[in-house]
Amino acid sequence: MSKNGAYKNGGLRLEYRHDFHIMPPAGWLNDPNGSCFFKGKYYIFFQYSPDSPEGGSKYWGRYESEDLLHFKFTGIAVKPDSDADAGGAYSGTAYTGDGEMEIFYTGNVKHKGNFDYINEGREHNVIYIKSSDGENFGSKKVLLRNCDYPDSLSCHVRDPKVFRDKGIYKMLLGARTRDSKAALLVMNSEDKIHWNIEKLMTAPEDMGYMWECPDFFILSSHPVVSVCPQGMASQEFKFQNIYQSGYFSDVNYDKIDSDAKQGQFKEWDSGFDFYAPQTFETQDKRRVLVGWAGVPDAPYDNEPSVKEGWQHSMTLIRELTFKNGAILQNPVKEYEKLRGKPLEFKRKSEVSLSGNEDYGSASSSEEEFVTKTREKAFDIVFSCRADSGTDKETKIIDLNGDLILSHEGSVLSLKFMNDTGRGRDLRKCVCNQVRDVRVLMDHSLVEIYVNGGSHVFTTRYYPEDEILDISVTACTDLRAWSMDRCIKWEN
Ligand code: FRU
Repeated sequence: MSKNGAYKNGGLRLEYRHDFHIMPPAGWLNDPNGSCFFKGKYYIFFQYSPDSPEGGSKYWGRYESEDLLHFKFTGIAVKPDSDADAGGAYSGTAYTGDGEMEIFYTGNVKHKGNFDYINEGREHNVIYIKSSDGENFGSKKVLLRNCDYPDSLSCHVRDPKVFRDKGIYKMLLGARTRDSKAALLVMNSEDKIHWNIEKLMTAPEDMGYMWECPDFFILSSHPVVSVCPQGMASQEFKFQNIYQSGYFSDVNYDKIDSDAKQGQFKEWDSGFDFYAPQTFETQDKRRVLVGWAGVPDAPYDNEPSVKEGWQHSMTLIRELTFKNGAILQNPVKEYEKLRGKPLEFKRKSEVSLSGNEDYGSASSSEEEFVTKTREKAFDIVFSCRADSGTDKETKIIDLNGDLILSHEGSVLSLKFMNDTGRGRDLRKCVCNQVRDVRVLMDHSLVEIYVNGGSHVFTTRYYPEDEILDISVTACTDLRAWSMDRCIKWEN
């Protein structure tokens, strides 16, 4: 039996539910919404279709935590139960700067008929609700309808992000113009209820037909704008997923048209499963990010988790720091409290010499460290030797022959060797040297942080073996632990 009380092996299937990543109790999850610290508690809401792991009408599910680590599912906070959100309570934000939890979200409505649902047949309304305790919300107020947005926009205007700047409230909305260019709409207000158009900016060339889920924040005095473009062309080392998610740094939210260029747009994550992140500030003023560990319309699937009645999860909560023009992402330090039993690695040469044939031949290099483990939730950290990957391909970490992180020249690659990736194959990014690596595995989700969080790969992975063979090459200071559970969805 696994820690989750589910069946393992013995002819039955493995358990793919997570121990330390937020996931839906049952059903479907996508974007994190309204993440905030409010009156002593952290809240992370999420796009939730409780009735089916394949999706459906969108609600807001809610997780709460007192310590940014132990999160508990506390039910549905917003239901699509009005005329203005009949087609789904879509993504949005929570503003807590005035003592209440004020939520702004997109009410999606699809009219019946023969429409393209881009320029006609759809409503995207901004809806407002508020709460004094984070649990009970007052009635819904529709603040904005499509007729309030500039005429050049299609019906797709969504995912409000609300903040205060120089004494005025601002709202960013992601949008698609009628002629299919991505756009960012800035609205302003003195009371958060009545909103005026401040500026509509179309995206730089080649940045797609739609931007979803905008965010804006200041990190160590640097303004950062985060967006999720749809329709960007893939490049060999960038933008390899169907939709992208990244940021412009040192660009203000009202200067996107003049100051942002595609070349400066950096992706948050180079893996297969990352989209729609949101940032918020912790009680002690750290800027943290949480994303959806998934991507819409992906050509690969999550059938093994769908069979268990759920699909998708969130990334770990990542602390953001600014260094040399780029943002570093690292799991918040709270996760270190989950480290339990050490995972014992051995030099492969020693294991082989001691006659333990299970680990293979003795011909391998001295720097290879191996372990066999039943654990499916673990944290592995190590540093890499300076010469690794310089002239020939170095396998940095190999998870059971299924999923391999390797480095060659200036290319870092993550490759599935078989169908444990459910159609996921290869992701690459440019990285001249690998100095350090942290791998966090949680049953069917892996996050890999490289060089102090300058590169991150997030991917689903569905191992089929009860015992995993892990090998790490060219490393020093290897440490690894099993991870305890901190997510609760049942009472
Ligand atoms: C992004 C997104 C948002 C939308 C939500 C609907 O994944 O498409 O633009 O509000 O998901 O669930």
